[in-house]
Amino acid sequence: MSSDSPILITGGAGFLGSHTCLVLLEAGHRLVVLDNFSNSAPKSLERVVELVGGDAAQRLMVVEGDIRSREDLERAFAAGSQVAGEGAAIGAVVHFAGLKAVAESTLQPLRYWDVNVAGSRLLFEVMQAHGCRTLVFSSSATVYGMPETVPIPETAAMRPINPYGHTKAAVEQLLADVHRGGLQSGSSWRIARLRYFNPVGAHPSGRIGEDPLGEPSNLFPLLGQVALGIRPRLQIYGGDWPTADGTGERDFIHVMDLAEGHRAALDHLKEQDSALLTLNLGSGMGHTVQQVVQAYGQACGRELPTEVVARRPGDAPSSVADPRQAERLLGWRCIRDLETMCADSWRWQTQHLGDHRS
Ligand code: WQD
Repeated sequence: MSSDSPILITGGAGFLGSHTCLVLLEAGHRLVVLDNFSNSAPKSLERVVELVGGDAAQRLMVVEGDIRSREDLERAFAAGSQVAGEGAAIGAVVHFAGLKAVAESTLQPLRYWDVNVAGSRLLFEVMQAHGCRTLVFSSSATVYGMPETVPIPETAAMRPINPYGHTKAAVEQLLADVHRGGLQSGSSWRIARLRYFNPVGAHPSGRIGEDPLGEPSNLFPLLGQVALGIRPRLQIYGGDWPTADGTGERDFIHVMDLAEGHRAALDHLKEQDSALLTLNLGSGMGHTVQQVVQAYGQACGRELPTEVVARRPGDAPSSVADPRQAERLLGWRCIRDLETMCADSWRWQTQHLGDHRS
């Protein structure tokens, strides 16, 4: 991958994708985004271009399409020359596109396996056909299931407990097979499988952020609705967990830290002849739901009503990353704290109110 080969970002209009596009554009990269806008909007990329400024509009090409369509994937690969000059081939792929709602995955397993696994398989096949073998894959801490030890190292067993987690584990296994096959055939792949913990927050401008379609299920968007008065209270799932205050504990990571982790992973991969990395992207610090409610209340300057209810099926008491591998290999670590996550999330919520899927 030469340094100015364009990079294909699947799902680049989404929450994680749009923030990663911003960081890569700021680093001077040329990007092609493939997105079917099933859970995102083109507006997020228009705002990314505004935020980056300069010649960013000329360095970003958006292709509307689906990773399950070979024709759409070919159009995305062909767009490389439109954004980086005649004959410029896509040098690397950052693969975000996929479905990611745990509860929904239990109701729609066939759809989740189709998009997340069949779609990924086709993407990797088209990559290989174009001689593009550098990939950053969006995996998830959900592959760990109920962790035996916390903080969780990458060597912990993958024991997913829901279809979403099964699909992420399946693609991780597929990539291990692809990497091994490449070594044997002399065409080695450079792969980073990044296991995200709980991505939250927003770009400090408040112009891009988490914009889930329909009813949110994750904690931060729900807290934003409570803070805006759209939702009467936050239901806390369980107050009797074995944690500091009895509420669930998670490793929240600012989306800008996560985006910078992707840039660091790409920079690392391009120096390798062959690589198969598995890295936790998390802060290594746990915060309980109650602590987050407190911090979010300070960020928005109001008391957030809560009600402790029954535990949510499938929840683990605690999920916190051991992030030392990413720090050692990529020289990357989280630098934004919980207060910043809440302040940036709240700024996005207040500035975004009234936008309808824009
Ligand atoms: C966080 C904590 C809940 C809502 C999920 C996916 C994971 C990743 C991140 C994609 C838990 C508690 C939540 C509410 C609550 N997504 N909570 N009341 O489940 O840790 O992870 O999103 O990669 O794959 O599994 O995130 O935000 O749903 O929950 O008490 O109304 O907040 O019990 O302790 P989760 P979450």
